[in-house]
Amino acid sequence: METLNGVSQTLLIPLYARFLETQRDDAIIRDEKSREIIDQLNPDFSQFSKTIWSTQVGIAIRTEILDRETSNFLKQNPTGVVVNLGAGLCTRFFRVDNGFVKWFELDLEPVKQLWGKVFTETECHRYLVYSLLDFSWIDEIKPFAASPILFIAEGLLFYFEESEVKEIITTIKNNFPGSEMLIEAIGPSQAKNTQKHPVVSKTDVFFKWGIKTGKDLEQWDKDIKFINEWYYYDKYGSRWRWYRFYRYIPSLRKGYKIFHIKFNK
Ligand SMILES: C[S@@+](CC[C@H](N)C(=O)[O-])C[C@H]1O[C@@H](n2cnc3c(N)ncnc32)[C@H](O)[C@@H]1O
Repeated sequence: METLNGVSQTLLIPLYARFLETQRDDAIIRDEKSREIIDQLNPDFSQFSKTIWSTQVGIAIRTEILDRETSNFLKQNPTGVVVNLGAGLCTRFFRVDNGFVKWFELDLEPVKQLWGKVFTETECHRYLVYSLLDFSWIDEIKPFAASPILFIAEGLLFYFEESEVKEIITTIKNNFPGSEMLIEAIGPSQAKNTQKHPVVSKTDVFFKWGIKTGKDLEQWDKDIKFINEWYYYDKYGSRWRWYRFYRYIPSLRKGYKIFHIKFNK
């Protein structure tokens, strides 16, 4: 685990959260694969363990939403392609694989080394080593451009500047018209306050990009179509403790969300 630095350390947060959530009798999601990965890699979670409870709830909810929406995409497009951007040690493939999907995990070199220890690359489940901003990764996906493609950006884009997020989204749009994206985002005030985040504040990484709603992306380009958005505080009120009241305050309610967009053909 000593190979992880900078923003790549953050992949430990969702891995640990999914592992902890899976231990609960009333778990929102079950991810047995996270336990296998932790048994094999034995990461040190001590910097996160005391303050993780609310992040765990948020990550469980985002996992539930993204698993459901990815499964819906695969029901509509059984031979579709999924590109998981900044994949970390995401285990979604194992929960939603329909036996036909072509699934690409994209992340940086140090993450590939971990990936190689715990997963087996197959023709249908491949790992791509690129920086997201080095757009030569597009060439790897181009051969599949005629297929329906879903891009997932979970726990990722808030670590980029808005100008970079715009470049990433418009490059995907220009190269893969008709494709879809599921994006996790935070609000502008959450993005300005990394130091208040109970877990990310324990790393040396900062949030950079926040947006009020995914609907605002329609103003970035006429070929971006907003489809839907889901807010974490709307769900599992009892698990949120006092944060459950955030659902009544719009700027807080929309602070943590997933949205679904589609690019016109
Ligand atoms: C918080 S983790 C999220 C991992 C995974 N999506 C999940 O939710 O479990 C952020 C991931 O983004 C990756 N990442 C950050 N910047 C990147 C870049 N420029 N190119 C590719 N991956 C990047 C990190 O290495 C890390 O694995």
